[in-house]
Amino acid sequence: MELSNREILERMCAVEREAGELLLHAQGVLAECKTGHRDVVTQYDRRVQELLICRFTELLPDARFFCEENDRHDDLHAAHVFIIDPIDGTMNFVRGFNHSCISAAFMRNGTVCAAAVYNPYVDELFSAVRGEGAWLNGRPIRVSDAPLSESVVCVGTSPYDTSLADRTFALIKAAYLEGLDIRRQGSAELDLCSVAAGRAGLYFELGLSLWDYAAGMLIVQEAGGVALTMEGAPLPLGPEKSPLIAGGRQALEEFLALAEKLK
Ligand code: IPD
Repeated sequence: MELSNREILERMCAVEREAGELLLHAQGVLAECKTGHRDVVTQYDRRVQELLICRFTELLPDARFFCEENDRHDDLHAAHVFIIDPIDGTMNFVRGFNHSCISAAFMRNGTVCAAAVYNPYVDELFSAVRGEGAWLNGRPIRVSDAPLSESVVCVGTSPYDTSLADRTFALIKAAYLEGLDIRRQGSAELDLCSVAAGRAGLYFELGLSLWDYAAGMLIVQEAGGVALTMEGAPLPLGPEKSPLIAGGRQALEEFLALAEKLK
């Protein structure tokens, strides 16, 4: 019998908690550069990814994987696909900021149906099932409906693409001037979860990969929020990078109007 999205989510949460132990007890972290000096991978990114692939294959033997590390980019149109960022916030992990997460989204026939994002440092597990809701450690969460003027704004700096720096920092200045304040936390998935939990009213970043947002996107949507491209279009579920904005409807619409003026 086909497993329900809820059953798959429960397994994803258990596996992420298991992987969280690896992060909490990490020793001798070795960072290697990937595309540039800011884009790094450690032996723990690889170990966590291998653990998740192994456990999810035990659960669904026909599962395919689209992952940040080791160029494991299977066909996203398969019946069952897990999108994995083994450590989102790798630079935080390397530098000991204790603000990183393990992130996985489950896609069934091209639709993201379940998501789990676990920050082991504070034992916070954000999750969602399409059509059923979003939770933090099992309790329902909801986005803020505050206007931009009453919102903290999380920002990402797209560190692997400095050609986006001028526009990024112009938008950050606008968010700083119009909102309550800004936060640069260093993990896109946890920024999305901050929005879903109503801590931040808005989050944006101009260049993200699918593994940086697939899980958080569903968690925001199921918490009553909106996650779109900066042009206001649905986020792509493919291999190309995308700009992203997420928040409660009012703050998001106000900021998109501001961004339009800055073009
Ligand atoms: C990065 C983090 C960071 C964001 C980058 C992402 P990684 O993911 O989410 O906050 O600004 O755009 O690529 O490399 O740590 O998995």
